[in-house]
Amino acid sequence: MNYFTLDQLSEINSGHDHPAKFAVIGNPVAHSLSPQLHQPALNKLKLDCRYIRVEVPEGQVNEAFEKMYAAGIRGINATVPHKLEALEACHQVDPAASSMGAVNTIVFNTEGQRTGFNTDGPGFVRAIREEFGMDLGDLRVIIIGAGGGAGRAIATQCALEGCPQLILANRTLEKLTPMREELTRLTQSEKLEGPRDRIEIHSLDDPILEEAIGASDLIINTTSVGLKSSDPAPFPPHWVEPHHLVYDTIYNPSRTHLLRDAESQGARIANGLSLLLHQGALSLEHWLNQDAPVDAMRQGLLDFLKA
Ligand code: ATR
Repeated sequence: MNYFTLDQLSEINSGHDHPAKFAVIGNPVAHSLSPQLHQPALNKLKLDCRYIRVEVPEGQVNEAFEKMYAAGIRGINATVPHKLEALEACHQVDPAASSMGAVNTIVFNTEGQRTGFNTDGPGFVRAIREEFGMDLGDLRVIIIGAGGGAGRAIATQCALEGCPQLILANRTLEKLTPMREELTRLTQSEKLEGPRDRIEIHSLDDPILEEAIGASDLIINTTSVGLKSSDPAPFPPHWVEPHHLVYDTIYNPSRTHLLRDAESQGARIANGLSLLLHQGALSLEHWLNQDAPVDAMRQGLLDFLKA
């Protein structure tokens, strides 16, 4: 097994020279690529510690945090399905993570108190800069699948960045109404510029979607459609035009149907690997209070995916 269970936490260091100090929790967790990102970074920084996976049953995240701190863990990533429970189990939560309704990064202080962050949104800003050389806040954005976890984090970040247009689309429209209210509240807070136009919400079968896509600079797929190679694109790909930037948060397969078709339409495309990389780099920066060795992390990921 490539992970520990909660019952095995007392044994995480037996037979190892270097102590486990960082971990990802999930259920299932065996497939998580976080160790492929973080271990090369810890090695590069010569920190002589390990990053491990821990399988945590739903409803036991708070208990897991206590046990993991007692076992010497000092920084945690939370993945599916624990991002909401992780938020609830933190003593303090970053306001952006609260709006996203999800925490993916937990930092312990010296008393074991937990602060929660969400690095998916800020990681996406870095990903867009790296992939397209653009600032997210300058782009007219449409998010396809905004009702899911990744969609909500990215939508919140778009609101925080003051994107001039933010269109949220989802198969289930009802999920978007409370989200729009939360994002409007966020953008109306005096510290934020907010989208200059109102935040629009549409269902995926709304006939206006084609026009909404045409009027956008950046199209983001955050649906799970594309995870299987046989999946179609989540909307008719001939709606994509050469002026578009198309970002698919899926990275495996590396080219979804959407990305292949968007490229043949002349658009610039990118997959979710850069988001995976930069959300991880930002987690490490929260734990260590120093810049992450992003190149070592990227290489670790690429080496693993190539193998
Ligand atoms: P989460 O990210 O919260 O775990 P998910 O079940 O993986 O959620 O779904 C992520 C997104 O993919 C959601 O926006 C979901 O749409 P619904 O909110 O309507 O469920 C979207 N999605 C999943 N399957 C889809 C499909 N076949 N067509 C369109 N959207 C789909």
